[in-house]
Amino acid sequence: MEKISDNIVDVVDKIYSSRFAAAPRNDPARPRRVRCLNPFRWLEVNQNGEVTPCCSSWFKGNLGNINERSLLDIWNGTRFRELRESMFEGGKWRKFCNEKVCPQILNDTWVSVDFISPTTPDQLPITQEMLQAIREGKTEMPFGPLQIGLTCDSRCNLCCIMCEAPRRAKSDGALIRKALEDMEPLLPSLKRIKLLGDGEPFFVPEVREFLFDFDSRKYPDARFLINTNGILFTPDMWDKIQHLKLDWVVVSIDAATKETYEEIRIGGDWDILQENLEFLAGKYKEGFIRELLISMTVMKSNHHELADFAKMGKRLGVTSTYFYPIYGDYGREQIFDRRDISCLKRISRQLSDPFMRQPGVDFNALNRWENWKPGWSDYAIIMKRVVKKFVSKLHKGHRGGGS
Ligand SMILES: C[S@@+](CC[C@H](N)C(=O)[O-])C[C@H]1O[C@@H](n2cnc3c(N)ncnc32)[C@H](O)[C@@H]1O
Ligand code: SF4
Ligand code: SF4
Repeated sequence: MEKISDNIVDVVDKIYSSRFAAAPRNDPARPRRVRCLNPFRWLEVNQNGEVTPCCSSWFKGNLGNINERSLLDIWNGTRFRELRESMFEGGKWRKFCNEKVCPQILNDTWVSVDFISPTTPDQLPITQEMLQAIREGKTEMPFGPLQIGLTCDSRCNLCCIMCEAPRRAKSDGALIRKALEDMEPLLPSLKRIKLLGDGEPFFVPEVREFLFDFDSRKYPDARFLINTNGILFTPDMWDKIQHLKLDWVVVSIDAATKETYEEIRIGGDWDILQENLEFLAGKYKEGFIRELLISMTVMKSNHHELADFAKMGKRLGVTSTYFYPIYGDYGREQIFDRRDISCLKRISRQLSDPFMRQPGVDFNALNRWENWKPGWSDYAIIMKRVVKKFVSKLHKGHRGGGS
């Protein structure tokens, strides 16, 4: 079956890539463009083993599952090739990409591949080999992915109030073991390994072992991106992983005070975290970490501490302090979707503080709340919520009355 669909992809779907390969190169008047480079360089393993070419929330569906096939097979399998075909200008990328969420599409960043090089600044690596393959209209890559992200184990030492990870963490480690095993043959091409989009890398034993045993001399190009709550990132842990090349370390904190921290990051310890942060900031200054970031997921419980959090970043001397709005339905904590007017006004005021305008303070997706004033559409959202709540109460009352 796989063979038949492979042939169909080969015959039917070569339209855009062959047209692309045949078009004149280096023509500034009509540059040859692809929608996005990520399907040619990135692979993400998500919950349940599903594989996507970028963040799973940007992408519709998946390109295979590591419970059924190896990562290597998926990387050049039918669906990945079909996706790459759709990236060449004129291709059907809408079939795969979520236009409402993906930043590449929202920012309309098409890529003129004849006019970029491996030194062009970008979020992810660009290599000569990758550019050559795209310029030739290839959909089967003669090399492995340049970046891999593992978001397939939710085990965590904390239980933050806005996070689903620990609530679904029933892992026996089989999936992460399979992902790490499958990653082995891809290591020679990998430039970045991202751990762990979900769960806590230093808490998951398989990830810890992988980091401790990683042979940086054998794979000198591989750099690590680590997303951590920082509690287990102690000087002892540092001793065990200091052989790794750390591209980024992101420490999620979500608070500028001990009280707020312990309200949100259940199981965390502010004092231990502060000690670890001072230690990591020292390693960053010594040049052992390329970028050190601290992050705040903004919600009701911490929305008043934005400016203090930015000051904390400055005091520590990190590369960047960044803010991200909470997503998902977390009741009163969800101040954005619910349009909590007083919280949003307070956020807006803090964002206009001159201190927040300094380099190294990154509002990210909070940008849209700067100078925010409630309009009719916001009141309509609030009204809809109030009416929904009223109707639901009414229903409950009826059911209660009838029983
Ligand atoms: C799921 S954690 C995994 C890595 C690590 N345990 C940590 O806390 O950084 C990755 C990031 O997701 C953020 N996060 C968790 N739940 C969220 C939510 N409902 N909305 C937005 N971000 C959330 C966390 O604050 C953290 O920065
Ligand atoms: S969803 Fe966005 S990042 Fe992912 S492949 Fe499509 S355009 Fe690229
Ligand atoms: S530390 Fe990270 S993974 Fe763990 S519960 Fe908090 S946000 Fe979720």
